Amino acid sequence: MNPAAAASTTGRGRPRLIERYRAFLPITDATPALSLGEGFTPLVRLDRIGAALGLANLYAKVEGQNPTGSFKDRGMVVAVSKALEAGARALICASTGNTSASAAAYGAAAGLEVVVVLPRGQIAAGKLLQAQVTGARVVAIEGNFDQALRVVRELAESASHPITLVNSVNPFRLEGQKTAAFELCDDLGRAPDVLAIPVGNAGNISAYWAGFGDYHGAGLAQSLPRMFGFQAAGAAPIVLDRRIEAPETIATAIRIGDPASWTKAVRAREESGGLIESVTDDQILAAWRDLARQEGLFCEPSSAASLAGIQRLAAENRLERDATIVCVLTGSGLKDPKTAEASVGDLLVADPTAGAVAGVLGW
Ligand code: F0G
Repeated sequence: MNPAAAASTTGRGRPRLIERYRAFLPITDATPALSLGEGFTPLVRLDRIGAALGLANLYAKVEGQNPTGSFKDRGMVVAVSKALEAGARALICASTGNTSASAAAYGAAAGLEVVVVLPRGQIAAGKLLQAQVTGARVVAIEGNFDQALRVVRELAESASHPITLVNSVNPFRLEGQKTAAFELCDDLGRAPDVLAIPVGNAGNISAYWAGFGDYHGAGLAQSLPRMFGFQAAGAAPIVLDRRIEAPETIATAIRIGDPASWTKAVRAREESGGLIESVTDDQILAAWRDLARQEGLFCEPSSAASLAGIQRLAAENRLERDATIVCVLTGSGLKDPKTAEASVGDLLVADPTAGAVAGVLGW
């Protein structure tokens, strides 16, 4: 029997994510139960965008519906539970914003001190506030994400009191992030043919690939997808096969020049017969607008790199029409109000009468 199905029939409503997939996670009876309601995110058919591209089975996995608005919560719940189990008192991470928002929230729920180190001026406003409001101590450095990651690795190794690094170099993070692949197989009744995903520090593409492998190995999925990763053109070290010292992109979440899980991501690409390519900021913003206006899905710009890549491949005739293709939308659009604001026109303003409102609408 499917262990996921067994765990989900508790008769007490929706199970916790890590109970649902316990058979595939490093959870024991000694692991504290912690949850903010992560996982169980929607798989939405992209009918209008799919029709325009000539793709019959195009979907989005809407990870912005996790508790802190990004996929990071899947891994953070496992990493923080294991940190608690090991007696940690504090958490630390570097971040382009979402990891810090998630670490701060789960740290608050677990009663742990949280320190986050961020590239100054490069964090979307909502993400920064999430970390601050939930009580993390935030240190902004005059440097980029790659430098911030080096700093926190050093601090975690040399700290005088137990402090757990919760970046995706913490193996429990990737373990938890595998659950998105399990959900996809459970919702589709099979593995997709193509999994399209933005690539930054390269942890998520690696976690999905491990998750599909686990399900396939357990006989719960008969096939494996091809993994299609997309980096922003100004921050595409894996595509170019060299570190980028000064990565630049409007997609600040994936503004990373030296991904920690580089080798794992390349392995996922090779083993799956997939690809890792780049998309320009203009392509990312166009995909982001299409998702919002044609499908009603408001994700953050970085998330739209997955669809931007699929749009490009479709235009180049490199996709099979009937393939089941899932684009992972990694985070919520509400996190980045500045980019959103720059993309919309001025408000229509009117006096409080039906006639005046009709007038500004041109009716
Ligand atoms: N999309 C979003 C919205 C992200 O926040 C990230 C990474 C990615 C995609 C890329 O995933 O790093 O596993 O390849 N954000 C990290 C952070 C780096 O600090 O929040 P990845």
